Amino acid sequence: MRIAINTGGGDAPGLNAVIRAVTLSALANGWEVFGIRRGYDGLLEDIPNGVIRLDRRAVRGITHQGGTILGTTNRGNPLKWAQKGPDGEMIEVDRSGELIEAFEKRGIDVLVAVGGDGSLSIAAGLAKRGLKVVGVPKTIDNDLDSTLTTFGFHTAVQTATDALGKLHSTAQAHRRVMIVELMGRDAGWIALFAGLGGTADVILIPEIPYDIEKVCEKVESRYRGDRGFCIVVAAEGAKPAGGSASYVEEAKAGRAARLGGAAETLASEIEERTGHEVRSLVLGHLQRGGEPTAYDKVLALRFGTAAVHLIEQGHFGCMVALDPPEILAVPLEEATAKLKLVPTHGEIVQTARRLGVSFGD
Ligand code: F6P
Repeated sequence: MRIAINTGGGDAPGLNAVIRAVTLSALANGWEVFGIRRGYDGLLEDIPNGVIRLDRRAVRGITHQGGTILGTTNRGNPLKWAQKGPDGEMIEVDRSGELIEAFEKRGIDVLVAVGGDGSLSIAAGLAKRGLKVVGVPKTIDNDLDSTLTTFGFHTAVQTATDALGKLHSTAQAHRRVMIVELMGRDAGWIALFAGLGGTADVILIPEIPYDIEKVCEKVESRYRGDRGFCIVVAAEGAKPAGGSASYVEEAKAGRAARLGGAAETLASEIEERTGHEVRSLVLGHLQRGGEPTAYDKVLALRFGTAAVHLIEQGHFGCMVALDPPEILAVPLEEATAKLKLVPTHGEIVQTARRLGVSFGD
């Protein structure tokens, strides 16, 4: 058996642990393992060492490393490949046939596709076209529906919570409102967990559109008491009631729209309305970098090993999913059918509210 592994979409701490787990458990079966570089680019584009052999040596000591030794991309979708059309404009073409041929030519029997919503939807499309695929869920956003959680999320929350801890002292020293923009795309999981753990006063998430007046009321209440400072966490997808999220780049061929600007907009609105000094910051890609937490390492190692176990059983077209205490297999189509958003009346939101957190509603 010859299997290949690739990592697609935005990186997430724990990718290397999956690569190591897949490689070691496949080698133990006497299989050959290959890594495809930069998503599918290693098979579709002329890049040096596009497909590399993974042996014990190649995956030694990588569990603790962030990033991915294979590289990744959130561009190259083989089903909707962006390229210049006859008139020089960007168009999308389907290169899946060429890709499946490339797998056959190299004698690769099965692909382990490690990715988030986008990459796993691509994997589902390839499975439909006949490729044997097993998916492994990855995303710091925690927005994949069929798994309790994804690796990368815990690390991102830890990084963001640490940042909030540091912001408290400077906010207090200057009697300022500090607004922190956190990642998560259309889901507020990172903002909710980090905001709760980092004791933010206001948490704004896409699932609960905010009223700026309510946000300012909470800010003012912090200055009426003896606190005199306020920490606001805004998910990058946070939006005012009746309005839309803030973007820095529109969607174009082969690329999703890029969110950004939520914290900056809030900062000027809050400063104007309350007169308090406000500073905003965007934590950005720091949330995706660095060593995975122990939780994410263990989850990634479990997922990688479970993926190989599914291949042993001849179970394809599915994704491994955490359903404690088990790791289960879920059909890729089902796993990518909808995003997992924060339940607005769920226990975690209620807990935050009982602790005095304002969601600006
Ligand atoms: O999906 C992961 C994620 O980090 C989102 O939270 C964020 O919106 C996006 O990727 C950023 O993507 P890029 O790396 O292209 O800036």
